Amino acid sequence: MTDDQPLLSWERLTRNPAETKLLAEGLGRLLQPGDVIALMGELGSGKTLFSQGLARGLQVPEAYYITSPTFAIINEYPGRIPFYHLDLYRISAGVDLLELGLDEVLYGQGAVAIEWAERLKEQLPGERLEVHLAFSGEAARHLDFLAFGVKPELRLQALIENMGNTRVRPSFE
Ligand SMILES: Nc1ncnc2c1ncn2[C@@H]1O[C@H](COP(=O)(O)OP(=O)(O)OP(=O)(O)O)[C@@H](O)[C@H]1O
Ligand SMILES: [Mg+2]
Repeated sequence: MTDDQPLLSWERLTRNPAETKLLAEGLGRLLQPGDVIALMGELGSGKTLFSQGLARGLQVPEAYYITSPTFAIINEYPGRIPFYHLDLYRISAGVDLLELGLDEVLYGQGAVAIEWAERLKEQLPGERLEVHLAFSGEAARHLDFLAFGVKPELRLQALIENMGNTRVRPSFE
């Protein structure tokens, strides 16, 4: 991870899993080829759930159920653009991206979500939208969005415009 500063940041409290998923879906609708979402937060904080929302926003068919890849570290899903879901939990910190063959994915033509993105350290792309998830009680989560780079800033700006003033209120749960 570089020591650069975010161009824009935003924070949001979600009160249940559905709210987190809706927020992620709103972001997924905005994603373009090459966008990287770096998900950080401890076990069970909601990184996979957030990825499921992104997939929905990217129009990945409902038949695909996004889970953390157990044996692979990456899964690819078809959507309006390819969606790559990575989980780096099992890799050691600072592992070489080239060794993992991930460089093509990170700088490719799909949208990318990376769980445990902090494991990439300084190899994390300079242009990325970081989403930090933290527990805030049993069913609430505190989400911190940090946009590094111009394109991530545009996505975050749009997300704030679309979701910032409305309470994220799910029609289910
Ligand atoms: N507000 C909330 N937002 C997201 N998840 C929530 C919320 N409240 C409760 N949860 C629950 O927290 C759990 C999050 O699990 P999830 O697998 O997404 O976490 P994770 O960060 O991917 O964990 P891991 O590090 O093991 O991959 C789910 O069981 C979800 O229902
Ligand atoms: Mg997970």
